[in-house]
Amino acid sequence: MPSSDRTLHLRAGEVSVVLHVPDAGPPALLHWGRDLGALDDEVIDALVRSAVPPVPHSALDEPWWLTLLPGEADGWSGHPAVSGHVGGRALHPRWRTAGLACSAEESGAQAVEVVCRDDDLQLTVTSALRLEPQGVLRARHTLERDPEASVDVLDLDALEVLLPVPERATEVLDLTGRWCRERTPQRGPLPRGTHLRESRRGRTGHDAPLVLSVGTPGFGFRSGEVWGVHVAWSGDHVHLAQRLPEGAGQAAGVLGGGELLRPGEVRLPPGGSYTTPWLVATWSGEGLDGAAQRLHRWLRARPRHASSPRPLVLNTWEAVYFQHDLDRLRHLADVAADVGVERFVLDDGWFRGRRGDTAGLGDWHVDPAVWPDGLHPLVNHVRALGMQVGLWVEPEMVNLDSDLARDHPDWLLAPAGRTPRPWRHQHVLDLGRAEVRQHLVERLSALVQEYGLDFLKWDHNRDVHEGVHGATGAPGVRGQTLGAYAVLDELRSRHPHLEIESCASGGARVDLGILERTDRVWASDTNDALERQAIQRWTGQLLPPELVGSHVGPPVAHTTGRTGQLAFRCLAALFGHGGIEWDLTAATDEELAVLARWSALYRELRSLLHGGDVVRADVEDPATWLHGVVAPDRSRAVFSWVRLATSVDARPGRVRLPGLDAGRTYRVRWRDDLGAGISGVAPPRWMEGTEITLPGAVLGGAGLSMPITDPGTAVLLTVDAVER
Ligand code: DGJ
Repeated sequence: MPSSDRTLHLRAGEVSVVLHVPDAGPPALLHWGRDLGALDDEVIDALVRSAVPPVPHSALDEPWWLTLLPGEADGWSGHPAVSGHVGGRALHPRWRTAGLACSAEESGAQAVEVVCRDDDLQLTVTSALRLEPQGVLRARHTLERDPEASVDVLDLDALEVLLPVPERATEVLDLTGRWCRERTPQRGPLPRGTHLRESRRGRTGHDAPLVLSVGTPGFGFRSGEVWGVHVAWSGDHVHLAQRLPEGAGQAAGVLGGGELLRPGEVRLPPGGSYTTPWLVATWSGEGLDGAAQRLHRWLRARPRHASSPRPLVLNTWEAVYFQHDLDRLRHLADVAADVGVERFVLDDGWFRGRRGDTAGLGDWHVDPAVWPDGLHPLVNHVRALGMQVGLWVEPEMVNLDSDLARDHPDWLLAPAGRTPRPWRHQHVLDLGRAEVRQHLVERLSALVQEYGLDFLKWDHNRDVHEGVHGATGAPGVRGQTLGAYAVLDELRSRHPHLEIESCASGGARVDLGILERTDRVWASDTNDALERQAIQRWTGQLLPPELVGSHVGPPVAHTTGRTGQLAFRCLAALFGHGGIEWDLTAATDEELAVLARWSALYRELRSLLHGGDVVRADVEDPATWLHGVVAPDRSRAVFSWVRLATSVDARPGRVRLPGLDAGRTYRVRWRDDLGAGISGVAPPRWMEGTEITLPGAVLGGAGLSMPITDPGTAVLLTVDAVER
């Protein structure tokens, strides 16, 4: 292989990416991982030569590499980047590099665009790579047919971004789940073969992998090398890791994904094009936390990332469900304001005919039967109490028992003449139709305008089944996803200050496609703090806490029937965009006093919680977790030590606090602001005095004794650097 062709070495955030761009043939990523330091041309040449693999028996005669667009023409017998056919003729592109452009983006990202051509097939692929300053690598492809290409349509089965995985990545970890149990980790060896995660739900899904990671044996939160990918897309999607016995030149296989296309969903005429979603990829040499830290820092640098302090929310769902009553809600707002709530969100049940979940979806007009003066009396009351106002909507859905469905039966996303099986009594509107999008934009915009709404909780409560554009019979999930994006984009451009939450029966639409146009996600419908600990821990692999809604629920969790201590519920909700989802009019004075202290704590700590680096310790005992947030300059931190269950060992031992500066000294304070004390047998000696001062090297290297506590409790520690 020639080594004199162009080779780019991108470096940022302690990550190196080496892209070899030969004159003949397509480009290849020769390295994506640890920073290789500054390399001169001579070293780069040698690096390229050093990556040329030997030729085994029973293999291609010449050495070959995994390219940016792996396929059979390269020698790759695995999952191809491009698949499809042109009028029944096979598609095996032989790419050659036809153009290369490098630039620096305003964000500081190093951008590379490589153009590859197959002249015979009259096809061009433009591959865009961005190495963000924080070390996040993003990539996507655009496939275009020449305008003068054969008149047959190109039926695209798949176009995916596939990145090389090294031999030492032998374990795989991703997430799965269901309603109220989102983002449950599953982990195992990465065998030779394919670890394939497909979602055909028409939405991201409760069981989405979120981040598909592969890593070195035993990688943990704080150690090991980890490569991870996330497809920034809210419709059907694919994530995969594939290793083949023969490897792939410079790698053992591939890691990547893209949009899952249904047969016939993308048909390119001459001049047609298709662009994949961004694949967002991270490498970390410091385990999962290193990967999460890069993602969080990159997300925080986005221009539209929430920059104002995240207001404490009260959401009415579990407080009143569909029982909307002005006096009751005004009373709830009064109590909420008293404990320090800053945003009051009226959930489902306010619109025409919506007295339960069987009717009304689609009729986005305030129900005069319940609200004779509109929402104004409540909105005015809430504003007078100094709170922002939010409203629940589910724009993509419709109940058959609604005026909208009666007036426009053809607006359903469904095969003509057929109605898909109902799910929560609801169906999907076809957002591929311009008139449907227009209708939604106008209706929602009118509501935002009339009530001066600060916030929409945007729900999506079913999988999309048989998602077909009825008028054409064409597969519709892609059009639906783009349609939903278009409605959100238009609404945001009309109302730049409006914030939107992505909710989907809890956490079934958590992805970076939707988060390009929303401001937080509802991680789950479970407000059970024990379940939440796990859901938030793993949602944090992609999202920083300020993007993850997290509410204090009632004493007995509605979704599990489990009773949780108030302090425990509060401490779980502290590590997110905080809120309350509880009928506070039924809370005791003592409970309200605790909530008021918690809301003060939230305000005290939120700049740290929402701006620092998330850390999760690798604690031996699975019954206890330690997680926290450390300020980027390491001057302060907050940790929560959580007991989920009882342990075999009588004492928890000493727990090391990760992420601190070993060279500084810190004062650690046990923060019992909520007055719960230690719920259990005994505190360690240092907690009797509530604080201790120790070097970061000791806290991170030897650790601190933790108390003997009951299951379902947590201890909060704040840590501040002190002069010594
Ligand atoms: C599902 C959501 O996840 C809940 O929080 C609530 O908004 C209901 N929908 C309302 O129908």
